[in-house]
Amino acid sequence: MKLKKTITVVVSMMTGLTLAGSLVAYATGAPKEAKYVGTNKCRMCHMKSYKTWKGTKHAKNFDVLQGNEVTNPDCLKCHTTGYGQPGGFVSAEATPGLKGTGCESCHGPGSEHIKAGKVADKSGPWDKKIDKTPMNACVKCHNPHINQKARAEKLRAAAQ
Ligand code: HEC
Ligand code: HEC
Ligand code: HEC
Ligand code: HEC
Repeated sequence: MKLKKTITVVVSMMTGLTLAGSLVAYATGAPKEAKYVGTNKCRMCHMKSYKTWKGTKHAKNFDVLQGNEVTNPDCLKCHTTGYGQPGGFVSAEATPGLKGTGCESCHGPGSEHIKAGKVADKSGPWDKKIDKTPMNACVKCHNPHINQKARAEKLRAAAQ
């Protein structure tokens, strides 16, 4: 009886761990080796999402930068996609497809997802290679306690 109970406990612990493990794997999204590829690469398979994104300010927020701001890391980390990351934004000339808050700013770098997406159709390995519900991505750039527009205006006034 005692032994049976112990076995039940061990088995349920193992099930719990496996479940936790798969949840972690699900939550990891893009694998470590994934690189940023740019929003235009997503467009060919996700035209509908691309069109809605195109109508948001995220698609245009590089254009609010003026003068030297387009090379200022303090601005680029939030007004571009993947700045300072493998395959991410370098400059407007070198990486025009990574201007603004592109798909990968929220969904994570997409190179491995695209490779998998090319061979899978409606289901398959693409599933674990992209962050499907990137709910925590926003706070990388949005802080309710900082009014970024006002901050930018202050910095601009000080630079004059
Ligand atoms: C070669 C085609 C292809 C490309 C390119 C591609 N994907 Fe996908 N993607 C798929 C397929 C196939 C699925 C799974 C079926 C579906 O949801 O349409 C998918 C699913 C997704 C999902 C999950 C959708 C869901 O229903 O939960 C996200 C998010 C996503 N892709 C984002 C991206 C992003 C971001 C890019 C660009 C970096 C990208 N995809 C590029 C083929 C592609
Ligand atoms: C931590 C992320 C972050 C950084 C760093 C950042 N911004 Fe922003 N910026 C935002 C967000 C988010 C908004 C949207 C408004 C808000 O949430 O306050 C914004 C809005 C703006 C706006 C207003 C755009 C409009 O539609 O009116 C301007 C201009 C701007 N930023 C310029 C800059 C400049 C210049 C820099 C560099 C000195 C900079 N930002 C650095 C995240 C950032
Ligand atoms: C500002 C962050 C953000 C950006 C930028 C963004 N997404 Fe998403 N996307 C999300 C979130 C959050 C969800 C999950 C919504 C949900 O589960 O209700 C989502 C869901 C999706 C889905 C699955 C649901 C659906 O609507 O079909 C696809 C596919 C997708 N995004 C593709 C893209 C592509 C392609 C781009 C670029 C053209 C893009 N996303 C840009 C945050 C973003
Ligand atoms: C890489 C940085 C970045 C990330 C990640 C990001 N944003 Fe933004 N977001 C911005 C910037 C910068 C602006 C200001 C755009 C402007 O005013 O020109 C903005 C603007 C917005 C706006 C006003 C847009 C409009 O079309 O009127 C909303 C709403 C918003 N973000 C929501 C979100 C949500 C929700 C997420 C996460 C799912 C998210 N953002 C992720 C940088 C980001």
